[in-house]
Amino acid sequence: MGDNGSDGKNTLTVRDNRTGREYEIDIQDGDVIRAMDIRQIKVSDDDFGMMSYDPAFSNTASTRSAITFIDGGKGILEYRGYPIEQLAERSTYLEVAYLILKGELPTKAELDGFTHNITNHTYVHENFRRLMRGFRYDAHAMSMVISGVAALNTFYPDGSDVRDPQNRWLQMQRLVAKMPTLAAYAYRHYRGLPAVYPENELSYTANFLNMLFRIGGREYKPNPVLERALDVLFILHADHEQNCSTTTMRVIGSAETDPYSALAGAMGALFGPLHGGANEAVLKMLNRIGSMENIPAFMKGVKNREERLMGFGHRVYKAYDPRANIIKRTADEVFEVTGRNPLLDIALELERIALDDDFFVSRNLYPNVDFYSGLIYQALGFPVEMFPVLFAIPRTVGWLAQWEEMLEDKEQRISRPRQIFTGRAKRDFVPIEER
Ligand code: ACO
Repeated sequence: MGDNGSDGKNTLTVRDNRTGREYEIDIQDGDVIRAMDIRQIKVSDDDFGMMSYDPAFSNTASTRSAITFIDGGKGILEYRGYPIEQLAERSTYLEVAYLILKGELPTKAELDGFTHNITNHTYVHENFRRLMRGFRYDAHAMSMVISGVAALNTFYPDGSDVRDPQNRWLQMQRLVAKMPTLAAYAYRHYRGLPAVYPENELSYTANFLNMLFRIGGREYKPNPVLERALDVLFILHADHEQNCSTTTMRVIGSAETDPYSALAGAMGALFGPLHGGANEAVLKMLNRIGSMENIPAFMKGVKNREERLMGFGHRVYKAYDPRANIIKRTADEVFEVTGRNPLLDIALELERIALDDDFFVSRNLYPNVDFYSGLIYQALGFPVEMFPVLFAIPRTVGWLAQWEEMLEDKEQRISRPRQIFTGRAKRDFVPIEER
């Protein structure tokens, strides 16, 4: 690496030992090189040029982004520059949603307008309820919501005009507003209960809880502590930069697909157990351990690599996941109301042992967001099938902000990675009777 002196640019000098030629590659943004800059490295003029190989995009920045900042080593998460701790403490989910979508915290008038718009787009077409009723009685809630989001495009075909910013803003508000309605319809179908219509004078989370848990004509008043806890969980899950589902959203959106179809695709990615399904795995693990006296044997199994301590470790965070800290406090508040979940004691003990054990400490394994979230969801009365849906509702904001950022980014085009072909060389077709 060196400085070429003439214009003060940092460059990387690459020598190709096949040809003896040297190339100067610009280093940008601190320590980034453009993959296209290595295309000039060729053995002959008709050579395609050099590519980089990066399965699972482990070391490839696919975009510039101004939305979410993560420093995994230091355990920092910021939305538009605001630390997650301050947002979880002092903000509401809709305020954070506005921040993520628009880039700045709203003024009072802006927040009032946004809240009004969101609470007035909560209804879906009546045919939608019939669509939901068509699913089998035991259909997975996430599958129903994924299908529902894709189906929304049939009700809002104007969503396809993705190059019009005003139209995009309308579709984004529609999606943020209707996700709880879709989720509640799926849940009620799953429970064999009639759907409850949205109540637009309630808060975002109170309306959601009402649509989920109201029975008959009786008024349902969510406990304010539980309403706030759900709001905090929504804030924590609103965005997490270029993860698997967000990348899916951007890739589908790069084909100028409507936001409903793109978001259904992103939800499909989130549904995977390696992504949005880990909190369910934590609950299963805690249930399997069952009681405090089984913990030592379980931990021995983890250290012998017979199993994983689910809810621990993270690809990006190599320190305490800042969301886990906040969730732990929220869990305490929720359990004050709902009564203590006995599984919490097992979780706390697992954490206590792990944070003091060299196996976990030396590998930087700390609790992640999923270690405590499942316990809270369970205490709030959600079946595990709803867990990925509860992740998808707030992440809708992140997906949409990233989608819009991608569409506005002049450097972005339709996503199209390259491959290293490993198949057979050209050969002639063989008639079936000769094979
Ligand atoms: N329990 C025990 N050991 C673990 C765990 C764990 N949960 N996580 C990692 N390790 C060990 C690995 O065995 C490995 O040890 P080694 O170097 O001696 O072979 C080392 O720690 C590094 O682990 P990797 O698998 O290389 O870490 P990676 O970054 O690929 O994986 C992941 C991250 C998938 C999150 C992993 O930590 C894991 O499986 N955790 C449990 C599942 C989980 O909680 N997922 C939720 C993530 S948060 C989210 O998606 C919202």
